[in-house]
Amino acid sequence: MTASRPGRFLTLEGLEGVGKTTNLAFVESWLQRHEIPYLVTREPGGTPLAEELRHLLLNPRTEAVDPWCELLMVFAARAQHLNTLIRPALAAGTWVLSDRFTDATYAYQGAGRGLPLPDIEVLENLVQRELRPDCTFLLDAPPEVGLSRARDRGELDRFEREKVDFFERARRIYLDRAAAAPERYHVLDATQPLAAVQQDMAARLEALRP
Ligand SMILES: Nc1ncnc2c1ncn2[C@@H]1O[C@H](COP(=O)(O)OP(=O)(O)OP(=O)(O)O)[C@@H](O)[C@H]1O
Ligand SMILES: [Mg+2]
Repeated sequence: MTASRPGRFLTLEGLEGVGKTTNLAFVESWLQRHEIPYLVTREPGGTPLAEELRHLLLNPRTEAVDPWCELLMVFAARAQHLNTLIRPALAAGTWVLSDRFTDATYAYQGAGRGLPLPDIEVLENLVQRELRPDCTFLLDAPPEVGLSRARDRGELDRFEREKVDFFERARRIYLDRAAAAPERYHVLDATQPLAAVQQDMAARLEALRP
């Protein structure tokens, strides 16, 4: 049965270690408190096949990965994730909360790897059609802040091994995209203590409440 009101699609974005996963748990508790049906997912990944692609994307390897191969794998995983999990959930009135989505593709494969942003937009339109997140929380901090938090966690993935200027470029694109569509993005200062970040988030979530 399809609910009369579709679910909302929320995403969390930002560089490595800025607190996406930590704050996702906060949004999750907010949704539970308000008895809103939801599902939590992540990109790349979110379905068994897309998680296999995630593994291929993140695992360090000796063969140099062509940026186009990387980009197409990201969108291949996204097509599977969107069409088999996200769209059906939204149609049933379930809110979807995703740890990263297409903004990360603009930031990492676009600004980071240097692929043309208009080409990414072509793929976004092809794969997603009209679907875009209703609200994107962008956790913003200088790369060193999150990278040092991520390093404390141990083994670094293929992206975490990139140099700081890769992340400086990615951060810039995230902020540019947020500035161009302030109605969709909510930028959070991720250098603040967690409690302050979450207070700011809660205010925006209240505005989304059905
Ligand atoms: N505002 C904050 N202040 C201090 N520490 C924080 C803050 N936000 C998150 N952390 C801590 O930083 C670490 C990384 O957080 P988290 O794993 O949520 O980041 P992430 O954005 O999901 O990282 P990744 O991109 O690697 O998945 C965790 O130990 C978390 O407790
Ligand atoms: Mg995380």
